[in-house]
Amino acid sequence: MRTDSGRIMHLADYRRTDFVLERVDLTFELDPTATKCTSRMLLHRREGSPADAPLVLDGDELKMTGLLYDGMPMEAERYTEEDDQLTIRDLPESGSFEITVDTEINPEANTKLMGLYRTGGVYCTQCEAEGFRRITYFYDRPDVLCVYTVNIIADKESCPLLLSNGNFLGGAGYGEGKHFAAWFDPHPKPSYLFALVAGDLGVVEDTFTTMSGREVALKIYVEHGKEPRATYAMDALKRSMKWDEEVFGREYDLDIFMIVAVSDFNMGAMENKGLNVFNDKYVLADPETATDADYANIEAIIAHEYFHNWTGNRITCRDWFQLCLKEGLTVYRDHEFSADQRSRAVKRVAEVRHLKSEQFPEDAGPLAHPVRPTKYREINNFYTTTVYEKGSEVTRMIATLLGRDLFKKGMDLYFDRHDGEAATVEDFVKCFEDASDRDLGQFSLWYHQAGTPLVTASAAYDQAKGTFTLSLEQMIPPTPGQTAKEPMHIPLRFGLLLADGSEAVPTAVEGIEITEDVLHLTERKQTAVFSGIASRPVLSLNRGFSAPINLHFKQSPADLAHIARHDRDLFARWQAVGDLALPHLVEAARKARVGEDITVDPLLGETLLLLAADESLEAAFRAQALNLPSEADVARELGSNNDPDAIRKGRETITQAIARQGAAIFAKLFDRHRVEGGFTPDATSAGRRALRNAALSYLAAAEGNPQRAAASFAHADNMTDLSAALTVLAHRFPDAPETAAALETFRTRFADNALVIDKWFSIQATIPGEGALQRIQTLMESPLFNAANPNRVRSLVGTFAFSNPTGFNRADGAGYRFLADQILAIDPRNPQLAARILTSMRSWRALEELRADHARNALRSISSNDKLSPDVSDIVERMLNG
Ligand code: TRP
Ligand code: ZN
Repeated sequence: MRTDSGRIMHLADYRRTDFVLERVDLTFELDPTATKCTSRMLLHRREGSPADAPLVLDGDELKMTGLLYDGMPMEAERYTEEDDQLTIRDLPESGSFEITVDTEINPEANTKLMGLYRTGGVYCTQCEAEGFRRITYFYDRPDVLCVYTVNIIADKESCPLLLSNGNFLGGAGYGEGKHFAAWFDPHPKPSYLFALVAGDLGVVEDTFTTMSGREVALKIYVEHGKEPRATYAMDALKRSMKWDEEVFGREYDLDIFMIVAVSDFNMGAMENKGLNVFNDKYVLADPETATDADYANIEAIIAHEYFHNWTGNRITCRDWFQLCLKEGLTVYRDHEFSADQRSRAVKRVAEVRHLKSEQFPEDAGPLAHPVRPTKYREINNFYTTTVYEKGSEVTRMIATLLGRDLFKKGMDLYFDRHDGEAATVEDFVKCFEDASDRDLGQFSLWYHQAGTPLVTASAAYDQAKGTFTLSLEQMIPPTPGQTAKEPMHIPLRFGLLLADGSEAVPTAVEGIEITEDVLHLTERKQTAVFSGIASRPVLSLNRGFSAPINLHFKQSPADLAHIARHDRDLFARWQAVGDLALPHLVEAARKARVGEDITVDPLLGETLLLLAADESLEAAFRAQALNLPSEADVARELGSNNDPDAIRKGRETITQAIARQGAAIFAKLFDRHRVEGGFTPDATSAGRRALRNAALSYLAAAEGNPQRAAASFAHADNMTDLSAALTVLAHRFPDAPETAAALETFRTRFADNALVIDKWFSIQATIPGEGALQRIQTLMESPLFNAANPNRVRSLVGTFAFSNPTGFNRADGAGYRFLADQILAIDPRNPQLAARILTSMRSWRALEELRADHARNALRSISSNDKLSPDVSDIVERMLNG
């Protein structure tokens, strides 16, 4: 059994292993409850290691049935087996030797979904980060790379398919209704990239010819009958392979690339070498059951896992502190891919929305940590939005600082220099320094200092001198374990807009370094003077969200409206609408809190509607412009003492005002943007649907009855429109008979499709207001609820806690107590899932006093439990003490 020692891992303690693993041969004899695993490792003592150093291997909940040294049973006095490790002594000073470990595994009983488990009758593995040690004793750490041979023996009838990493060597019958297959992966890899899949699955097949003319077999395995729903994923895979060749010059390196979709999975997907395993949510799609957002996610995640082949697999991480080295970089690559496949500006808007709603709150709360942390207790809890999304933003800033060509040169150097190695963040940054001759020392603070920098800007124009003066000040807020911070290197893209929409070109700039259209803020306080400016300009700052910061810049509503109308950077136009709206939403929340009347400045609606009605802009962008900052955005802006009910009430009042102001425009948008002909998931059609459904949502608010949404639901011929209409019905008219009827129709029509039923749960889980908790509890009693399936638990419990601010943060604290009970119920079965859902309380300290008290009590009630997993224990303790 594994017990939580509470041991903390420190980056500073990194040490190489005493032994070098040359190769490993694994044999699995699969059985639902008693799988036999034999691992034969060839090792030798590392040069320079002490002659008496023992071999210490990692393990977790293992049952060892045999241990051999060079083929002979190991003497009992030469080894010690403990909870989480196997120590072997008296090993030779030089020369290779062989250790064989036999273990017996019960995949059926593995509900943690780490190591070897069963899902839908299929054997499947998940080894990142520390799952391989649940299969056998091993050097389960990313800096130990070796080649693997894998033999799989299984029942022929129930497991016709036997898969592992690398290339297929061969297979044959094995007597007694069994057969076997052998795989060899020529690329040395760490254990976290090992994978095995066995079962009876259907397949979609294709091929890809690489840039050097090699043909690669592509296979996507799904449940029988679901093959037609995997064709979009296959298309996305081929586009990803092509894009990585064209943009990063990276070619695939095996004869075969496989993807397996499973329905029980802890995260999105896993990049195992040559054998990616996916949550089926990110593979399966057809017009009837998948939304445009689902298609976009599938495309992004297929690309992400494929791109890991170079950034993660061929160049891996030295230790788990370096996680952003593969994740941040790979997210950056998948963001760029999606931007090239779709509209770059719209993609950027979606990224920034996501960053602000997920990463900024994490960085502002008790769970804040640097992109490259220096300590952790449970590594599973560091697969965070900070490591992934902020990590991606840091990579993006390197590209911004260096410019396209030097960034490319640095990436090529990285691939060249570190291929086949386990690298560090420092190795990565050094490549860009060497490629560009720039010193990135100060810039590297982005990896080491947690917290979202706050940049305060103020500007003045001097007509007589023709100068424009910009004062900037940066402050990085304190975060757990980091009180004092150094000023950072912040790249701010900018433009000086003139009254006619053109841009001023200064004759000189003093006080700050500028490269092309980027200001380099490097000091705590800096003042820039731009000369030769003939008339007052409007400053557009942090264009494209070039730096992931909070920007406080008191621009007049007129200036923001000017940017919203004229900036050549489409992203900046969206940002200006948000900046215009946010103070109104904040003010409305304040007034709602004290019961004052809320007045709405018509300029906000005018600006929004101007963009929404502008036919020269793409529909997807116009839909984003209509999407006001969320309740979470308002809470973040308020910072502390939050009352989610007041925030919602304020936002709702403004929504209603805009809905009335623009009723005629919305009606036109709704009528004119119906997508005719069959469904295609392309970005243009998706944009039209998004705009039309945004209009529907405002119209429902203006009209105050469910008829239009009910009609839209009845006429929908695709899941995007169907679920959008159902959401409007459920959220705006929860008690209307039309809503009950639509929910019932939806449920019966899709009862046999788990991914659609997840949507049915999620839509209901996000119905705002006090009654939400009762609804959730009733839904948990539904025969469709399944506590054993992570997607289902996330769709109901997770969605309620993360995405229903008024329902979850009920003033009486019942939402928190419910969550605490759920966490304690989920934890024994699946700690990773429990810990992840618990992070929904990461902003509890920013709540008003009474709610914060209730939240603290709920967290304490979790913490006082003495059988917590390390995962939940780590989160709850940091949440209470951070
Ligand atoms: N490395 C995976 C990715 O980002 C995610 C991952 C990490 C994961 N740990 C996991 C997936 C555990 C499933 C289970 O692509
Ligand atoms: Zn990843």
